[in-house]
Amino acid sequence: LEDWEPNLLHIADLWREHAVKSFVGEDTEVPALDFASVAAQFPIKRKRAYLNNASIGPMSEPVIAALNAFLDDVRDNGRNNYPTWCRYAEEQIKARVARLIGARASEIAFVKNTTEGLVTVANGLDWREGDNVVLPRFEYPSNVYCWMRLARFGVSIRWVEPQDGRVPVGAIAEAIDRRTRLVSLSAVQFSNGFRHDLAATSELCRERGVLLNIDAIQWVGALALNLSELAVDFLSFGGHKWLLAPIGTGIFYCNTNALDRLPPPHVGYHSVEKSEAHLDYDLTAYRPGAARFEAALENFPGIWGLDAAVKILLGLGPQRVQDHILGLTASAAEDLRSRGWRIASPWKPSERSGLLSFFSAAAQAEQLEPRLRAAGVDVAVRDGKLRISPSYFNDRQDIQRLLEALPSL
Ligand SMILES: Cc1ncc(COP(=O)(O)O)c(C=O)c1O
Repeated sequence: LEDWEPNLLHIADLWREHAVKSFVGEDTEVPALDFASVAAQFPIKRKRAYLNNASIGPMSEPVIAALNAFLDDVRDNGRNNYPTWCRYAEEQIKARVARLIGARASEIAFVKNTTEGLVTVANGLDWREGDNVVLPRFEYPSNVYCWMRLARFGVSIRWVEPQDGRVPVGAIAEAIDRRTRLVSLSAVQFSNGFRHDLAATSELCRERGVLLNIDAIQWVGALALNLSELAVDFLSFGGHKWLLAPIGTGIFYCNTNALDRLPPPHVGYHSVEKSEAHLDYDLTAYRPGAARFEAALENFPGIWGLDAAVKILLGLGPQRVQDHILGLTASAAEDLRSRGWRIASPWKPSERSGLLSFFSAAAQAEQLEPRLRAAGVDVAVRDGKLRISPSYFNDRQDIQRLLEALPSL
């Protein structure tokens, strides 16, 4: 791992060479990377203009090599490096994930997807009859069903109606009442890419003594995040979209100050400190940090891949990644407008994200999407509109291919 190279050219081979037992080196420093060298590590880029990273992002060679390095270790050594894996994941990988989002390593738990993090909060809090949860009425279902299911405890939802595709902080403030325990929302909306004002929302929740739970899967990996400047209690994101990490990986963040308010809804041998003393049953104390939410062995192969993906983001720099992505969506919007398309995404600078939705009364999005795919351009259809979501491996040429593949209006 000390050989992690800035240009990444041989990184796949290097990852393969390193058995997991050598993963204990001090490698938290990630050298600076450049966009072109990183893009060369995405085989999909040679074939397609892949603009659908908000659905499932493609994996790069380093991510696959890291995942394979872990599998090779289990093939060759069975369980023998188990303590090393656990230490590496706990100390090194969590430290890097924490750095990416401005958190502490002890506030990070591995989960298998965003939904698992949201469900952990819904099923873990000690609800009382008459409590309510404030929720925008255009959330992804993962951030709806877990709250609907609390009706059996007498917990209700107070919906915030979107206004022109936006959720103003003032509308959230109006929805909060005496019995509101928690506000839960997507930092970036999946359907139109609206970016919430996280700072104002977290300040509002802090002032009103309400917990704040964030679905950040459409934010992390595209936009920079510094949780140390926000009062967010819980936050979850899967690895398979903007992180360009393996499916089945995800992160659940639990603010240190909120830890005591969330008893783990699932417990197992990993929830407590003495995981090797299997017959010494003792559930009087959980592991000190968010690690208590990991009930058992986690998806280590996927997590090793996620670590490589996080290294790439840190090497490029989260702010530079954000600038790159917002630059691509801005220029795409300008070109699309000039060709007669209408932009559906909220478009004030503070409301923009990596997602861009567009439409025309003269075109059927559902019919266009397969035609674009056949032309080597991958987009999504959400809410009857075309949605693109370029990542750091995309460039102006990919946008150009999209423009050329679209019909003229
Ligand atoms: C806003 C939002 N939340 C949650 C999900 C589901 O993510 P996961 O599969 O990680 O639970 C999606 C997937 O499209 C999403 O867009």
